[in-house]
Amino acid sequence: MKRKHQDLIDKLTLKEKASLISGKDFWQTVNIDRVGIPSAFLSDGPHGVRRQAAAADHLGLNASIPATCYPTAATMANSWDPELGEGLGQRLGQEAAVQKVNILLGPGMNMKRSPLCGRNFEYFSEDPYLAGKMAAGYVRGIQSNGISACVKHFACNDQEENRMTLDSILDERTFREIYLTAFEIAVKEGKTRSIMSAYNLINGVYANENEHLLVDILRNEWGFDGLVVTDWGGNNDGVLSLKCGNQLEMPGTPDRPEEVIKAIEAGELDESVLDDNVDTLLDVILSTMENGVNKAPEKFDVDEHHQFAEKCAEESAVLLKNDGALPLNKEKKVAFIGHFLYLPRYQGAGSSIVNPTKLDDARSLLPNCGLNVVGCAKGFDRYGKKSNKLHKEAMNLAAKADTVVLYLGLDEVTEAEGLDRENLHLENNQLELLKDIKSLGKEIVVVLSAGSAIEIPFVDDVNAILHCYLNGQAGAQAALNILSGRVNPSGKLSETFPIALEDVASSDNFPSKTRTIEYREAYGIGYRYFDKANVKVRFPFGFGLSYTTFEYANLKVSQDGVDFEIKNTGNVKGKEIAQLYIGLEPSCVIRPLKELKGFAKVELEPGETKKVHIAFDDKTFRYFNVKTNKWEVEKGNYDVYVGASVEDIRLRGNIEQAGTNAEAPYDKAALPNYATGSLRNIPDAEFEALLGHEIPNGALPFYKKNRLVVEYNTTVTELRYAKRWIGRLVGKAIPWLVRVLRKMGNRVLANTLVMGLVHQPMRGWSRFSLGGLRVSQLDGLIMVFNGHFFKGLHHFFKEGRKYKKIAKAEKKAAKEASAAK
Ligand code: BGC
Repeated sequence: MKRKHQDLIDKLTLKEKASLISGKDFWQTVNIDRVGIPSAFLSDGPHGVRRQAAAADHLGLNASIPATCYPTAATMANSWDPELGEGLGQRLGQEAAVQKVNILLGPGMNMKRSPLCGRNFEYFSEDPYLAGKMAAGYVRGIQSNGISACVKHFACNDQEENRMTLDSILDERTFREIYLTAFEIAVKEGKTRSIMSAYNLINGVYANENEHLLVDILRNEWGFDGLVVTDWGGNNDGVLSLKCGNQLEMPGTPDRPEEVIKAIEAGELDESVLDDNVDTLLDVILSTMENGVNKAPEKFDVDEHHQFAEKCAEESAVLLKNDGALPLNKEKKVAFIGHFLYLPRYQGAGSSIVNPTKLDDARSLLPNCGLNVVGCAKGFDRYGKKSNKLHKEAMNLAAKADTVVLYLGLDEVTEAEGLDRENLHLENNQLELLKDIKSLGKEIVVVLSAGSAIEIPFVDDVNAILHCYLNGQAGAQAALNILSGRVNPSGKLSETFPIALEDVASSDNFPSKTRTIEYREAYGIGYRYFDKANVKVRFPFGFGLSYTTFEYANLKVSQDGVDFEIKNTGNVKGKEIAQLYIGLEPSCVIRPLKELKGFAKVELEPGETKKVHIAFDDKTFRYFNVKTNKWEVEKGNYDVYVGASVEDIRLRGNIEQAGTNAEAPYDKAALPNYATGSLRNIPDAEFEALLGHEIPNGALPFYKKNRLVVEYNTTVTELRYAKRWIGRLVGKAIPWLVRVLRKMGNRVLANTLVMGLVHQPMRGWSRFSLGGLRVSQLDGLIMVFNGHFFKGLHHFFKEGRKYKKIAKAEKKAAKEASAAK
């Protein structure tokens, strides 16, 4: 097939073509002015543009140009409204185009395998169908501006710690059904033009050089013809990843182009592979430049975008409990207490951090909220430090009120990229304050800010709980609108809230402290496990209250889908999110009891009834058959459930499906726990039966007791096992420093070290150096750590001098060339 940009490619030298497959710097692609190839700009992120004008980093350290900070994906998923997601994407994409960004690095769409994953706030759901539909909405919106979205992190990047070297071990069916389906929807329905490969390995192969993932599935099965970019610094083998269609390494290094040229000259790589990849890359660069960046308006409407962010926050807040305390009574005296009132917790930490155009805080908005406010107080230190003074002030204020609205939550260093949480608790100083206010006998309304599930042991001590998640720059106003009754809450949980962390199926294998992480619970992510194993949860998936009530009736099931009616039986207008689940019992396939296959959000006036249709689609009855290696449909009489949450099923029906008559894929006798849903502590033999092979060994490959040969993928922490003392010193000193900083209370710096250094493999030192540390120099350092001290240092300096000389010569040549012009 003729390449789209063949004429342009013909004009390029081999060196120029190779130069394109690695970035020019931290955020841009290489430009070749001679033939009119411009440089494209890539920028985070998922809930607001983070275009850095000066110092660049991927950890959220240096400021970026102001942009609207919308609610994060975890928040928006609670709206269950892909159209709203599209509206957000449209505005996000417009802001990106205005800022001359060609490729916007988002949305993030990994699955919430454990509530501990530090980056869950950036992801949509524990359910692939909901996550995929939301992501597709974002992508459509972003790309309506002519630029490209970039869904990430493809795939199985579900633990943050050790994310650059961790190997996710899972069976093919779980991989397809749970961990890839959302991406499939974003590719096929959203038509994303770019995708970011994940840092980690999947079943022994790095995601960015994983032929099964990037070629067989992404390109051949899903028909993706866009750009694949590495996650930042995630390039492992630059030649292998090119063969798998990973067109762009970011940030740029001179090493990848050189390695590719070498491979071509040695006959190990066909030049046509490079040409194909350059063609794809050029297509995204040129088209996003022409249709997006060059056509972008000069500015965006800052106020309208802020208003829209407020609407998104309103639609996404989830009312978890209400015994009638909400909406707040205008006659009652209300005290507002909590540190988050003064400084809202509205986004997460790391590469997604946005510098907001404005920022609402509840305290400043209180004078106009229309309530009888008796005062406000901080109440506690948000980072957990005990303060008797703050506690006392709050107690004095609470004593004067009928109702106390307590703003509780997680601080910004607890939920961060590159780290996982250690538990699901709120800080003790917050819980103590709640307990003491409770002892005053006051009515208590809790407003929560956190990016993912937390334990809520205080549920019976309070009258109402409104969970606002991380609701963006206009979130404070949105929350007040709900508290005061101007807006009726309609969000529903896109993830389960367990009673305790230990109840979650993955907690047996999360976090992993070895080089592999085993997905032993298989399909038992989120509600799929709790529902089948009949484990009690605090709040189920899909749950959320309203200031009104709804009745479901008249279910009809046909081959097209389900039809039913919803009636608003209360006194105020409201929106209901109805959910369609499907199950099959008995089944030749191991299955959860129910799986989400559709949903609809309906707005109803008091007393109004509406007809609702939820269509079946290609995902409704399919399962991935590991024997035929295809999607199949099992013949059977399927259970159809329509409900207000996964637990609150209001209507039931059945539908017969003919099936595809594929051979049953499992010997169920070998998988007894998977069959019954008892997914805790799965024995080795059973996990191996599911995997179809032995469990890979995740232990560090010591050559003798606690001694390791250091190589490119040895992390900083693993250096503690290096042969030479100098490596051991580095390997121990950095984690020690992190511990000391944490003890001193400097969690921000400690976290930055963890994010940027502790889990960094040796190769990352070079990948992030923008050419400052070449791989061959790194070889010298590795020699040092492996015991060849002088030889290694000699090599390191020799290589350094070599590259310095080359750079000098190139500079001279460029100067002469420009003088000749
Ligand atoms: C993150 C990506 C992000 C990139 C650039 C990486 O550390 O994993 O999500 O887009 O940095 O900031």
